Amino acid sequence: MARVVIVSNRVPIPGQRGPRPGGLTVALGNALKGDGLWFGWSGDISASADTTVRRTESNGITYATIDLSQEDYNRFYVGFANSTLWPLLHFRLGLIDFKRDDLDGYFLVNRTLAAALVGELRPDDQVWIHDYHLIPLGAELRKLGVRNRLGFFLHVPFVPASLFVALPQGQTLLRACLAYDVIGFQTDEHQRDFLDAVKQMLGVEPNQNGFLETADCLSRSIANPAGIDARAFAAMASKAERSSDTRRLISSLVGRALAIGVDRLDYSKGLPNRFTAFGKLLQDFPEHQQNVSYLQIAAKSREDVSEYQSLRRELDRKAGNINGRYAEFDWVPLRYMTRPVSRSSIAGFFRKARIGLVTPLRDGMNLVAKEFVAAQDHNDPGVLILSRFAGAAEEMEEALIVNPYDPDEISYAMHQALIMSGEERQDRMERLRARVFTSTAEAYCRRFLTLLAAAPSRLNQSASKHNLA
Ligand code: G6P
Repeated sequence: MARVVIVSNRVPIPGQRGPRPGGLTVALGNALKGDGLWFGWSGDISASADTTVRRTESNGITYATIDLSQEDYNRFYVGFANSTLWPLLHFRLGLIDFKRDDLDGYFLVNRTLAAALVGELRPDDQVWIHDYHLIPLGAELRKLGVRNRLGFFLHVPFVPASLFVALPQGQTLLRACLAYDVIGFQTDEHQRDFLDAVKQMLGVEPNQNGFLETADCLSRSIANPAGIDARAFAAMASKAERSSDTRRLISSLVGRALAIGVDRLDYSKGLPNRFTAFGKLLQDFPEHQQNVSYLQIAAKSREDVSEYQSLRRELDRKAGNINGRYAEFDWVPLRYMTRPVSRSSIAGFFRKARIGLVTPLRDGMNLVAKEFVAAQDHNDPGVLILSRFAGAAEEMEEALIVNPYDPDEISYAMHQALIMSGEERQDRMERLRARVFTSTAEAYCRRFLTLLAAAPSRLNQSASKHNLA
């Protein structure tokens, strides 16, 4: 079998500081089996423009990384990836902070990564590239003569063509996508929007099966929803239920219901509206005052991007307002923390929660929604409140689906969840669980890699066909 090579901006180097890898990362690692390569940025910034590849071996997987210079980090990661592409692909044109220099830096880092990766590749490797940081990497590899099967998966949403046209050099990025043999999206909607943009902006008409054929290449687009390792998460939750962290949390609730949200501190997650909704719940349904506590864990993220700094200030203020208004000397309605919490404690907290709040304004998939479901106890399950704009909503219609722009709707859903009968909670949760335990991370990896292996070989095609220009 051909070796699998995963490429992503972040590489889960074993033993490195930071959060423990999630189920999807573990599943991707499993796809590398005994002899695979995981390649990307080390997460470190080096003083010079040193692009030496550093390798670590663990369980038969080679982790190969390069550092970024401070300038590359600023222009590629903080700049184009997270101040232009991220807001654009989350439908937030008003938050775009575009600079030509950043765009140049983005292409430069992709070129640098391609040049470093090419020396690591074997002729029959299947290369699977991940997410918006690395869209042009495949085309850069083709320019260097790479003929391997190349796949790309976009973890974030794709936007309608009428928004995508706002991206300077958007055409170039779209054309770069055609360097891949398989291009994957989280949902049918994202795939449709991508194909529509390709049609309108490149004049390439897809066939009915999502194939894009030009004189130069044949690419296949697919929708392939990412999943979690539901069994492992469920086992972790049931074990963590008895852990000291979960017991501490439960005793601090003194019999009150728990509502929980776990997100990166990111403006796409809809946290200000969620806080407003909780305030409205206490105001409009005063019977819940003193009877529910909302725990929001919001892990700090991308702190060098200014929008993230202002979001943090806004949430600090909102949390203070809600608690100042409703707290009693023995009840803090909103517990808001930005310090990291271990995955196993989160699993235990989910199992004990009456409400899981997943209300992003936009999200490619949102695996937290699936983790909340996997963690539930069949005998006394909680209720998932899910944004209709999370990719997960396509597969999870038994959740209470809300419009995250409308705090009144979220607050009403919280009220419904708090008064919902045990029977209805069980019924909804059983149906959600059936899907979360079928559409797993492993199934996601297997399907993508099977389609990639089946793609026609580009061995006989000329390198020049895939130039970006
Ligand atoms: C999202 C992106 C991932 C990214 C993660 C964490 O889930 O789709 O590609 O790795 O956020 O963000 P960070 O900027 O810390 O890598």
